[in-house]
Amino acid sequence: MAHDPLLRETDGGVATLIFNRPDKLNAMSEPLIERLDAEVAALEADRSVRVVVLKGAGERAFIAGADIEAYRGGNLKGFIAYQQRSRRIFDRLEALPQPVIAAVRGFALGGGFEIALCADIIVCTEDAQFGLPEGRLGLSPGGGGTQRLTRAVGKYVASELMLAGWRIDGARAHQLGIAAACVPAQELDEAVAARVRSCLKVAPLSQAEMKRLMRQGVDASLPTAKTLEQEVLYRLFMTQDGLEGVAAFLEKRTPEFRGE
Ligand code: COA
Repeated sequence: MAHDPLLRETDGGVATLIFNRPDKLNAMSEPLIERLDAEVAALEADRSVRVVVLKGAGERAFIAGADIEAYRGGNLKGFIAYQQRSRRIFDRLEALPQPVIAAVRGFALGGGFEIALCADIIVCTEDAQFGLPEGRLGLSPGGGGTQRLTRAVGKYVASELMLAGWRIDGARAHQLGIAAACVPAQELDEAVAARVRSCLKVAPLSQAEMKRLMRQGVDASLPTAKTLEQEVLYRLFMTQDGLEGVAAFLEKRTPEFRGE
């Protein structure tokens, strides 16, 4: 079988996507993007998947960015097609109804950092290295990095990464609130698993709606965002899962959520 640049493992409602080009630090080649496109489309429609985990193969990288080899020679048409496609995929990844957890070990640079920024929760190792080094190539980010990073940490920290090309390590990413946790490498799997277990206890419709509220709220005025929030709550209140969650609490039992 041909080499698969993106592996998928599914285990009891948890889908793990593994970027699988370890000898190239999982740099995003055209075939890898192609596979990510297909997997994101499949996940959008798959209600049996409750949580998505993203990770890189090997010990050195989550993803070290777009495959720079493909940029050689200045093929603008191909470049634009690649950038537009990755933007669309990243937006869809961010908008998945399920919680997405990025498990970052080693380099998360350029498009790799941009993908992590599309996740809902980032857990990283102490040796993680986050950066947007495109300026060092005479380029700039194209997968939402200038916007998502700036909104996440503000202009001044984002400028250090982009204008000075600095990278931040796992501890700093945690301190800045980018990473939910920063752990020694041997503890990464358990740190992710703990969050997966907790995500599985939260109702899926609630998760999908809260994700949407957080996304839409960024572009809405505060009163509008609060109105959207209450509309969501009223809808959830009358769902099967809303009724079940309240009943289960009062009956002192574990709720059984069905995503309805
Ligand atoms: N595109 C293509 N290949 C890449 C890559 C990328 N973004 N990042 C790493 N690689 C390849 C290297 O070319 C090398 O391949 P080779 O062994 O066939 O020569 C392999 O991955 C290992 O990387 P290497 O550079 O030897 O490791 P290092 O430890 O010396 O440096 C990095 C690691 C991440 C600092 C360095 O690879 C790097 O700067 N990568 C590019 C990061 C970047 O600019 N990303 C944004 C792209 S738009």
